[in-house]
Amino acid sequence: MNKKFYITTPIYYPSANFHIGHCYTTIAADAIARFKRLEGFDVFFQTGTDEHGAKIAQKAAEAGVTPKEYVDKIIENAKDLWKSLDISYDYFIRTTDEQHIKGVQAIFKKLYDQGDIYKGEYKGLYCVPCESFWTNSQLVDGKCPDCGREVKEVTEEAYFFRLSKYQDKLIEIYDKNPNFILPITRKNELVNNFIKPGLEDLCVSRTSVKWGIPVDFDPKHVVYVWIDALSNYITSLGYPDENAELFKKYWPADIHLVGKEITRFHAIIWPALLMALGIDTPKQVFGHGWLIINGGKISKSLGNYKDPREYIDAYGIDAVRYFVLREVPFGADGTFSEEALINRTNADLVNNLGNLFNRTVSMAHKYFSGLVENKEVLEDYDNSLIDSVNNLDKVLNEKMDGLKINEALDELFDVFRKCNKYIDEATPWVLAKDETKQDRLETVLFNLLESIRVATVYLQAYLPDTAKKIFEVLNTDKTTYENNTFNKDNKYNLNEPIHLFDRIEVK
Ligand code: MSP
Repeated sequence: MNKKFYITTPIYYPSANFHIGHCYTTIAADAIARFKRLEGFDVFFQTGTDEHGAKIAQKAAEAGVTPKEYVDKIIENAKDLWKSLDISYDYFIRTTDEQHIKGVQAIFKKLYDQGDIYKGEYKGLYCVPCESFWTNSQLVDGKCPDCGREVKEVTEEAYFFRLSKYQDKLIEIYDKNPNFILPITRKNELVNNFIKPGLEDLCVSRTSVKWGIPVDFDPKHVVYVWIDALSNYITSLGYPDENAELFKKYWPADIHLVGKEITRFHAIIWPALLMALGIDTPKQVFGHGWLIINGGKISKSLGNYKDPREYIDAYGIDAVRYFVLREVPFGADGTFSEEALINRTNADLVNNLGNLFNRTVSMAHKYFSGLVENKEVLEDYDNSLIDSVNNLDKVLNEKMDGLKINEALDELFDVFRKCNKYIDEATPWVLAKDETKQDRLETVLFNLLESIRVATVYLQAYLPDTAKKIFEVLNTDKTTYENNTFNKDNKYNLNEPIHLFDRIEVK
């Protein structure tokens, strides 16, 4: 097998513990990674943290610890959060990793040696106490937006990357690969607002920031934000060693999954840097929308959010995963609220899937002591259920290829809805009273169990914990994607029925 798939999340700033917005990207990436693994791809799923910069140094100083001590704690917390959400990442990169630091220095040096990075002067508005540069439009009433104090114009020596040189080549990439930036609206925004007005060279070093990767041939400079951050996607694979096993195997990335606000860095600066390095550009940058709380972006400074573990503890891992994957059309902005999460959980997980599973397994125990096989006493309407089960593979593939994750889940849960409708049509409790209908009754239960099994194979990508529980009760090892069609020859010897989800009472 040589089908590979490399997917990344952004590397998040560990300036404070993560919120549900960070979970959103990571859960989506996890579902895509799991889906690809099911399909047999050799997947490399990477996440991590972007640990340098003045902001983090300032936070650490406020907390009275070193920047490294400060981020170490947050990263421990983040890894624990990913564990509680069943995130199946293969690699967690930290920009403070030795391998990353060396890689970034080598990249910087190579670009400098070949003339793609040059020394110049950075002019900007500087707030001394905050050690931050601002642009005119960022100022609030002409003052520092963070502390409200006066800013002054300063000039500092800095290195620049010749981004402008790559303008035409970037347009060529977009034209050649219509799926390079998705959703398409983001591409149009980007081309109109950034490419067409003309790209300026990019400042890639600072002398005023201390917490960062030093430019090794000029150590009063540290590498500034984007070269440090973006390079994570290749330093983790062993770059600059182009013969490194992981690099050869997984690069270029198949999807960089990012929030909409950083799509432009990934779709402009990143491919330009890679072209300058003479290596392949990623296949796709997907910029999803934001989760909004009470009409505003979730923000650490506004404090309008809870620790995501509170939602997990109150409603369960898969209620949280299901909600963020299902509620919002992937790509658009959407609202996160506990009320909406409760409604979704009760409607789809409790009433639809949970009820179906419990009813079906309970009847199989009541009527056949949990031993069910196909007696092939079919009615016409059985075929419509079986057809939709067998069609799932095609439908889900199409949806997932376009990253229409919410629609994929809707299709999957539609099969569970159809199973519930099938129970209403077949009325097993009526069949049970008629001795001549026992084979029909067993066929009905078999059709349900086998439909649930096939659908649950896909469910593993989205709700792995629930899928595992279902397979345990079904007592089956037929959990793999290959030949995952309705198999009339399967036999069931079920374990006891369980409640997959508890109804959430609205307070
Ligand atoms: N460190 C940079 C990224 C560098 S990638 C080479 C950064 N970090 S961040 O901590 O601010 O994380 C931003 C990302 O977190 C967004 O792009 C998005 O993936 C996710 N989200 C943060 N808040 C979010 C919402 N409210 N809604 C959805 N996603 C959000 O930017």
